[in-house]
Amino acid sequence: MDPSTQILTEQAHAKINLYLHVTGKRPDGYHLLDSLVVFAGAGDSLQYQPGAEPLHLELTGRFGQTLGADAAGPDNLVMKAAAALRSVSGSSAHVQGGRLVLTKELPVASGIGGGSADAAAAIRLLARAWQVDVPVGTLMHLAEKLGADVPVCVASQTARMEGIGEHLSAAPHLPTCGMVLVNCGQAVSTPDVFRKRDSAFRERAILPAEWKSAQDMANDLARLGNCLEAPACEVCPPVRTVLSALAEQADCLLARMSGSGATCFALFPSAEDARKAAHALGAEHPSWWLWGGALA
Ligand code: C5P
Repeated sequence: MDPSTQILTEQAHAKINLYLHVTGKRPDGYHLLDSLVVFAGAGDSLQYQPGAEPLHLELTGRFGQTLGADAAGPDNLVMKAAAALRSVSGSSAHVQGGRLVLTKELPVASGIGGGSADAAAAIRLLARAWQVDVPVGTLMHLAEKLGADVPVCVASQTARMEGIGEHLSAAPHLPTCGMVLVNCGQAVSTPDVFRKRDSAFRERAILPAEWKSAQDMANDLARLGNCLEAPACEVCPPVRTVLSALAEQADCLLARMSGSGATCFALFPSAEDARKAAHALGAEHPSWWLWGGALA
C-alpha cells in the first residue's frame, strides 16, 4: 500500500495524580515531586497521515475547535515534540511531512496532562511512523525537555513519579475500582498554583506493594493528599464546589484534585458506581466536563 495513504493513530490518555507531594525545590525553580500517576480511559487522540507536504497540525474535538488557529502552530506541544524528534532521528528517518490531526476531548490547562499526553502521543506515533531508532532514554530525555509530565505520559502506564517528573518507578498494584473526573471549565495556570503554595515540603510517601481493596487504597490516599489542592482552591474557588459535589455522591470513597487542577477525581468501588455518579453530576451541573469509568 502507498505509505502516504496510511493513517496512524495514538491515544493520549488523561493522567491523574492519585496523590502529589511537593518534596523540595531545585535551584532552577522547578519543584521536586512524589506522585502516583494513573491513566484513565478518557483522552485526546492523535492521527498522522504521512505526506510530501510540510508537517502541519489540525485541531478538532470538543476542546480543539474553540482554541483558534494559533493553537495549532509551532508552539503547540505536538509540533514541538515533532521538531524534537526530527532533530534526533538522523538521516535514516522516513518521510517526515504530512498531516497531524489532534482530537481534543480533554479540557485544556486542567491538571490531567492534556498537552503533555498529546506531546507524548506525538513522540510514540512519529517515532513509529518515522522509524526513529534511538534508545528509550533518548526519547525520555527529549520528553522531559518538553514538560515535566511528558515522560510519564510517554510510558502511559501507572507509575510512581519523582524528581520533577523524570524519575519513574513501579507503583503498588492497584485494586479494581471506578473513577469519576470532573472539570468545572476554568483553566488553571500551573505556575500560579505553585507560586501560591506555602513553603512547606512533604516527605516521600511510604507505599505498600499492593492495595487489596479500593477502600484500603482510598484510606491511604486520603492521608497522602495533593499539596497543590489548597493553593489551587485559592486560584480557582470552583474546585471546592466540585470536590464537595463529588464527595456527596453515593459510595464515593475519596475526592481529590489532580495535578495543579482544576480537574478533580473521585474513587468508587466499581466502574458502574462511577458511571452512575458521573450521570447524576451531569444532570445537576450540565456545564461541567465529566467522565466516569474503570480505573484499573
Ligand atoms: O514542565 P511544565 O511546562 O509542565 O511546567 C509548567 C510550570 O509548572 C513550570 O514552569 C513550573 O513553574 C511549574 N512546575 C514546577 N515543578 C514541576 C513541574 C512544573 O515548578 N515539577
